[in-house]
Amino acid sequence: MRLIHIPLVALLSCSSLAAPLTIALGEQDWTSQEWDAIVVGAGPAGIIVADKLSEAGKKTLLLEGGGKSYGITGGSQQPDWLAGTNMSRVDIPGLYKSVFDDPGDLTCASEETAAFGGCTIGGSSAINAGLFFQPPSSDWDTFHPDGWKDADLEAATKRLLSRQKSVTNYSADGNFYLQTGYEAAKKWLVDSAGYSNVVINDEPHDKTKVFGRPAYDYNNGQRGGPVTTYLQTSLSRSNFLLQSGVRVQRVERSGSKATGVVAKFNGTTVTIPLSSTGRVVLSGGAIQSPQLLMMSGIGDPATLSQLESNKLLPDSMNPSTWINNTAVGDGLFDNPNTFIELTGPSIASYTYSYKSPITSDTLMYLGSKSGPYTFASQTSVFWTMMPHTDGTPPTGVQGTIDSAGYGEYVDDRTITLNVYGTSGLLSSGRVQVDAKGVAGPSDDIYYSDAAGRDASDIAQFIHDLFQALPGSGLTPLNIPANASKEEIVNYITTPSQYAKGQVNHWSSSCRIGSCVDAEALKVQGTDNVHVVDASVVAPLTVNPQFGIMVAAEKGGELIAAL
Ligand SMILES: Cc1cc2nc3c(=O)[nH]c(=O)nc-3n(C[C@H](O)[C@H](O)[C@H](O)COP(=O)(O)OP(=O)(O)OC[C@H]3O[C@@H](n4cnc5c(N)ncnc54)[C@H](O)[C@@H]3O)c2cc1C
Ligand SMILES: *[C@@H]1O[C@H](CO)[C@@H](O)[C@H](O)[C@H]1NC(C)=O
Ligand SMILES: *[C@@H]1O[C@H](CO)[C@@H](O)[C@H](O)[C@H]1NC(C)=O
Ligand SMILES: *[C@@H]1O[C@H](CO)[C@@H](O)[C@H](O)[C@H]1NC(C)=O
Ligand SMILES: *[C@@H]1O[C@H](CO)[C@@H](O)[C@H](O)[C@H]1NC(C)=O
Ligand SMILES: *[C@@H]1O[C@H](CO)[C@@H](O)[C@H](O)[C@H]1NC(C)=O
Repeated sequence: MRLIHIPLVALLSCSSLAAPLTIALGEQDWTSQEWDAIVVGAGPAGIIVADKLSEAGKKTLLLEGGGKSYGITGGSQQPDWLAGTNMSRVDIPGLYKSVFDDPGDLTCASEETAAFGGCTIGGSSAINAGLFFQPPSSDWDTFHPDGWKDADLEAATKRLLSRQKSVTNYSADGNFYLQTGYEAAKKWLVDSAGYSNVVINDEPHDKTKVFGRPAYDYNNGQRGGPVTTYLQTSLSRSNFLLQSGVRVQRVERSGSKATGVVAKFNGTTVTIPLSSTGRVVLSGGAIQSPQLLMMSGIGDPATLSQLESNKLLPDSMNPSTWINNTAVGDGLFDNPNTFIELTGPSIASYTYSYKSPITSDTLMYLGSKSGPYTFASQTSVFWTMMPHTDGTPPTGVQGTIDSAGYGEYVDDRTITLNVYGTSGLLSSGRVQVDAKGVAGPSDDIYYSDAAGRDASDIAQFIHDLFQALPGSGLTPLNIPANASKEEIVNYITTPSQYAKGQVNHWSSSCRIGSCVDAEALKVQGTDNVHVVDASVVAPLTVNPQFGIMVAAEKGGELIAAL
């Protein structure tokens, strides 16, 4: 899918902050210089870690396999209506869904990973909806080890919010758009089902029966995120270099010590060296970081044997050099999702367009950063917790309401509710690699717990919601409103275009305590290899990006102090 990798250089031309890194680092070839830190992957986590390490004075190289994205990175793919602006498609919140129809070169190629996601500067933060929710304290306190409790992460959370504000009022004219679904949902959830109406990130810790407008990481009407903040401060430092179009193959190590990384760049394979006290940080995301460990001879010996027999490990890497650890890639999580199509006489659905939006909407966007294109289509969001009687933590459940229908239900009175199961679920799978070494999820990610508790909790949530529908003016189309709980269990666990599909909120595949240590997210059995990204975060109650960014703020601080 992706054909061109554009090496950095031009990256700097549009950014006022991005100064002279090629000059500062001299003419010397970056592939032969020794680096204090090589960070692999410029997703939200990698960008933040690289910023912390370069801020601490480490000579830092950030390597990204993909190419340009936001306008500020030199990205220039845009529909005609953006011509003459310095914004690429990536910058426009309302072009979020266009990535599913035509991702251009923004998403990972099938020879890179068997899952959908951003492989570009910004990683999936360059293609996601920008939903930005602070995890409740219970996520850290219940599911993370000592050192990673909510109190430990308070300072990191504050730092994150000082760099990236949470935005609920996205449109510069102060209005909210596409509100018929919001109004109907408020009637349903607040007036009828007894949810409280809150400003979500003002009360982050309460996720029991709360409803509100979504919070986003936007910045002045455009996509925000770490590319627009942390990466810009890094680029202003003379000890930092970002290289895009560089695909790392594996970590080069001598026993437990990493000495560099092996990468493909501009058609050749290079080994980029670390300084004697240098460190590698893998931030390739929850599927690709475990894969990089495996390709480096670190992982489940069964997987390493498979790689060896497929001739994917270098000859010198015989089993006596392996770092055997079954926790690498284990526990891979994604939210089980069900789309519920809802219709009602008061609903006016809205479909975003890449090429030909309604002219008055583009004029509003271009003229004053207002209107529907200032957000990614979500009009409301809600959570509750499904309790258990056996003392185990409750299951978090989330609903997110979109401005349009989906699948077979796309008339102009239909909207879509995404129902997710979140924290506390029992099901998870593994990162597995195929015969060519391409990593992807195993097929037991969703609803694989033997007793069926996950499906039961989510079906109960949907059943409870349906009991409160009368009076809201909304009718579900793909599941009958009077469906029994058993019928709902059956519906949500049967694959269809509405159920059991990938949400791509991958996480939890290199967990703290078993795969990496709690002290500095260092891979067990190594001296200087770290993982900092979605892999280390346990399943969260909310969309994962915020929590991953907090973990990277904390992880970067801990690694810089070593
Ligand atoms: C379509 C979509 C919508 C989403 N919507 C939301 C949302 O609204 N809110 C939310 O909170 N979350 C959302 N998410 C999830 C969120 O974007 C991810 O959880 C988050 O981006 C993960 O961050 P990360 O840093 O761990 O990895 P990633 O974002 O996956 O970034 C990893 C980067 O590393 C690079 N890389 C990987 N391997 C290599 C290698 N070997 N060599 C060089 N580079 C490499 C990749 O190219 C990529 O750019 C969404 C995800 C998707 C796909
Ligand atoms: C993009 O253009 C806008 C409007 O002309 C300007 O304010 C902004 O500084 C430009 N951004 C960059 C990164 O050049
Ligand atoms: C959004 O709310 C904040 C905080 O109340 C306020 O400062 C800002 O001006 C508002 N922005 C818009 C676009 O309404
Ligand atoms: C890429 O390789 C070609 C051919 O070897 C070379 O001419 C070119 O300078 C290289 N480009 C970069 C950015 O290294
Ligand atoms: C790792 O496991 C393999 C397979 O069980 C074994 O052959 C090898 O000796 C182990 N390596 C080490 C260093 O323990
Ligand atoms: C739901 O209602 C339909 C008719 O409106 C009926 O045929 C069906 O049996 C009902 N289902 C349940 C589970 O009550």
